[in-house]
Amino acid sequence: MKKWGILLAAVMMLTMVLAACGQEKNSNNGAANTTGNNQSQNETQGSQPETDVAKKLILGTSADFPPYEFHIKNEQGADEIVGFDIEIAKEIAKDMGAELEIKDLKFDSLLNELASGRIDLVISGLSPTPERAEQIDMSKIYYTAEQAVVTRAADKDKFATMESLEGAKIGIQLGSIQEGIAQEIPNAKLTALAKINDIVMQLNTNRVDAAILEGPVAESFVKNVEGLVITDAKVENEDEGYVIGVKKGNQELLDQVNTTLDRLLGDGSIDRFVTEASALAEK
Ligand code: ARG
Repeated sequence: MKKWGILLAAVMMLTMVLAACGQEKNSNNGAANTTGNNQSQNETQGSQPETDVAKKLILGTSADFPPYEFHIKNEQGADEIVGFDIEIAKEIAKDMGAELEIKDLKFDSLLNELASGRIDLVISGLSPTPERAEQIDMSKIYYTAEQAVVTRAADKDKFATMESLEGAKIGIQLGSIQEGIAQEIPNAKLTALAKINDIVMQLNTNRVDAAILEGPVAESFVKNVEGLVITDAKVENEDEGYVIGVKKGNQELLDQVNTTLDRLLGDGSIDRFVTEASALAEK
């Protein structure tokens, strides 16, 4: 009897593993950077009037940024991009009656991809700088957060002020506003990398002394990576808040984005998305 139980369990497990493999394969179909079918959703609302807006909405994001956008293994064991930016994108697509496709790209390539029309929308914890405003059109601000300095636990007190970072080795994301912030620190030696995970790795292996990250992202990483802490250093930042980017001149999409943001800000959805995404990022 017991033997049969074990055999049955083994067969069930094998089936589950095979099913998971199948899922993975499916989700890898399509272009190299897309996340596949499991990310698509088509929630066309029957009552919505037909518009001439494209029926597919392509989001560009750099999914290295919990709780904004990050990868998880979902319940089916498949890779999925989640986060509060992604929830916002889903709402915009829903309001448009469009299908959402997500492309996970390097942060520093997002604005070019938008300009060339390969993506329709950038939602990626994007801060509104004057330089970016020349390249793309931006929505209203949908969320704000502060910057944080992350270091190894042993160095927490050593880097408790911005002045203490003078001459230090600092990791930042390529093309981010943190790169600009770090450039202002006298004699700092900068390591600018495309993905945040790699910056955290550099920190962990003593190749940089500190990293400058968005506060919520810093919190997510210190919770998940042992030995890292947020210091008391207060980072000055003029480009407060996050916006959604669309191609210059795409007024129709910009209006739609702002309308959806008004709805989500008005009914508290964004705060709820942030709470839910933060909980998910902690798992
Ligand atoms: N807020 C910063 C910026 O706009 C960093 C954003 C990085 N986003 C990301 N998904 N990695 O430059």
